[in-house]
Amino acid sequence: MLAQIAEKASDPAGRKIHPREVERVFGALLASSEFWRVVALSRLPVETVAEIIKALIDVGLAVQENGALRLTPGGNARARARGIVPLIERTCPGCTGRGIDLRPYAELLDQFKELVQNRPNAILEYDQGYVTPETTVARLALLAAKGDLQDKELIILGDDDLVSIAAALSGLPRRVVVLEIDPRLTDFIQTLAGTHHLAIEVYRQDLRRRLPAELCRQFDTFLTDPPETIPALELFLTRGLAALKGPCCAGYFGLTYAESSLAEWLTIQQILAGKLKVVVTDIIHNFNEYVNWDYLLESVRKDLSFVQVSPRANWYFSSMYRIETLADYDQENRDRENLALYPGENLS
Ligand SMILES: [Fe+2]
Repeated sequence: MLAQIAEKASDPAGRKIHPREVERVFGALLASSEFWRVVALSRLPVETVAEIIKALIDVGLAVQENGALRLTPGGNARARARGIVPLIERTCPGCTGRGIDLRPYAELLDQFKELVQNRPNAILEYDQGYVTPETTVARLALLAAKGDLQDKELIILGDDDLVSIAAALSGLPRRVVVLEIDPRLTDFIQTLAGTHHLAIEVYRQDLRRRLPAELCRQFDTFLTDPPETIPALELFLTRGLAALKGPCCAGYFGLTYAESSLAEWLTIQQILAGKLKVVVTDIIHNFNEYVNWDYLLESVRKDLSFVQVSPRANWYFSSMYRIETLADYDQENRDRENLALYPGENLS
């Protein structure tokens, strides 16, 4: 039965859906009636989950009422017969699954929240969506715990998460540099830095342009959260690596299940290991929690009413990757102006 559903649900990217993925969506539907929560629990791309649910509805194993999803008695019977149980995450309540104690950072978190109250909205033009203040501070706590922050030179490639503000507020890094394409954000960061005497160097930069020479080989740590396509990830990581001083330096970035299939995870890991020649030291599941953004429903398919439902809680998470450089790694730094990075761009 799962195999038939898998067959029937055609993945829009042309990828074959596995019966175990159908099983996972079944388990998620036993735990939640909300599409976005089901996506998060399934650990599958949004489009894949939508296709599987559509197939389940088509064969009468699931129904939707006013956007709420549930299994039919037939669907429940199949789930029981297959031994499928509700997917429950069992996240540690102490650290919300990040494995980092944020208590020493409580004051920093309060200050940061206060400062960024009037931050710019996330916009589609640059594929933005920023993380919760707790996530921003947790990133700093993580960098600090790994020895990548205190007295180190930090570069942030794209900063709608305002990590630069929290980093400078913490007083821990020796230098904080931000490269950001959106003038609303460069203005916001510069104004805050000026008002609160925070040492942040802000560059307005499209990362398709090579790094300015004065920023090459100057940093101990980079942090980035690129638009989630393979070319964008590779580009941002390449720029981050060009900024690092040499071996034993670290880089951090996020990767989701919601936007990237595991086949894409594999491609990224192959690029990291094979082309960029860096090692992955950590992958922390769902470390980054994103605040729901205004343009979500405009940017997803309109033909399924269970998809066109506003998420009740934050649902979009990314795993945090930490990479480290060894003696030999890729340090190229050339212009890539013809690369399409953002929604609607069509460069040749
Ligand atoms: Fe914990």
